[in-house]
Amino acid sequence: MSFDLILFGGTGDLVWRKLMPALFQAFRHGTLPADGRIIGVARDEHSDDEYRALIAERFKSIEDAKRPSDEEFGRFAQLLHYQRMDASQPADFERLKTLLRTRDTDTTVMYLATAPALFTTICEHLAGAGLNTPSTRIVLEKPLGNDLASNRAINRAVRDVFSEDQIFRIDHYLGKPSVQNLFALRFGNALFEPLWRRETIANIQITIAEDLGVEKRGAFYDSTGALRDMVQNHALQLLCAIGMEPPISSHADAIRDEKLKVLRALRPWTAETLAQHVVRGQYGAGTIGGQAVPGYRQEPGVDPHSTTETFVALRTEICTWRWAGVPFYIRTGKRLASRDARIVVNFRPVPHPIFPAPPGLSNQLVIHLQPKDGLELHLLAEGQDGRRRSSWGGSAPLAPVQLDLDFEKRFGTERVGAYERLLLDVIDGRLNLFVRSDEQEAAWHWVEPVLDLWRTTSQAPRAYAAGTWGPSSASAMIARDSHCWSEEC
Ligand code: BG6
Repeated sequence: MSFDLILFGGTGDLVWRKLMPALFQAFRHGTLPADGRIIGVARDEHSDDEYRALIAERFKSIEDAKRPSDEEFGRFAQLLHYQRMDASQPADFERLKTLLRTRDTDTTVMYLATAPALFTTICEHLAGAGLNTPSTRIVLEKPLGNDLASNRAINRAVRDVFSEDQIFRIDHYLGKPSVQNLFALRFGNALFEPLWRRETIANIQITIAEDLGVEKRGAFYDSTGALRDMVQNHALQLLCAIGMEPPISSHADAIRDEKLKVLRALRPWTAETLAQHVVRGQYGAGTIGGQAVPGYRQEPGVDPHSTTETFVALRTEICTWRWAGVPFYIRTGKRLASRDARIVVNFRPVPHPIFPAPPGLSNQLVIHLQPKDGLELHLLAEGQDGRRRSSWGGSAPLAPVQLDLDFEKRFGTERVGAYERLLLDVIDGRLNLFVRSDEQEAAWHWVEPVLDLWRTTSQAPRAYAAGTWGPSSASAMIARDSHCWSEEC
């Protein structure tokens, strides 16, 4: 199989930090089709060799295990090419066409790793140059717009030029092995499905915590914030994966239809729920891993009076027969106590307890997404306190025990990374792990009342110190339901 992969934004951050390392891993694993060209395009002037040298330099900063030897890079570099292009110039697209026409390929992938403001122009010029052939696929990086209207405008412009099955909207969380496992857990095992409902589940918590701050992306982040950056996409996709009905097949649209139903069933916001069920926070100075770190407003590129949120906690419900009344809590933030993404499913206590048990203990399934990739099933067992009589005898309380599965240990650390997996899927034309436009629009539709409120309110985000779990109002929010975040219980 042959392919041309054109990376718009070919000298940008995403390309050298994520895409090139992922392509190299696929090359090393032998999964990248050998007959391929990877063509970086950007406004600077570079020859192919200069571009290869630039990428080689960037590779020096990636972790040891993923860094190529000189010999490996030499072979990988044969795939790399460069073309100078100004995305606003139709003539430059004609030059790209000339380069692409130098050989026949099965697939051409246009990867737009540029500012989203350029997506519409690039699509128009691709069409103008006749580069929207049926064998072409287009990949769109998030953020796709910054509200429902801008998202729709981009989707419309792209659909004028490409059909929906040529459009690959990336949400890299869907490519993570741990998220694949979540689908496998739910739809490859008979065990959980009968329990996966309101009768047995008390609440579900989705946490995506980062210990990093905004790094060098202060200016971008300050106009984006955590709700747009993480909740509208990654967190809601996780919510879909955990809350969706079993799809009728593994076909892309069967999966996406079910995710869409979840997004459409999210409880609409009211003035009351907006006031009680959403918390936004912003980090101040603090300590991470023993190191003092500055507050958000002191980060380079950030407005010193910014009211952008770096933390969101919210409560919602999926209004269906399966889930009615079950709270789903979402929490994400930067500069939190640790990097930890997990989904915690809290089961209800047994309906008629006959054993003494410490209050608040019930079964829990913890799906670790990162840095650990694994599953913990918390059960209650007969306490092994020999000095006391057994529970049947009447007095030893039940004790928590857990089954602990570590997928990295089980399957090895050389698992396929998110971008590696997703890039190969694009080249192969598999849409399962990509987001359809109606899903994206439903997600924007749901977050928009929150954005509107924050735009108009005089209430600033709640402050939290870097290195903590966010503002105390996030704990107060969940405590109102008599629940607690997993690390607090
Ligand atoms: C990106 C966000 O989509 O996801 C970043 O723009 C965030 O702000 C990143 O840091 C988190 O991804 P991961 O894979 O490191 O959890």
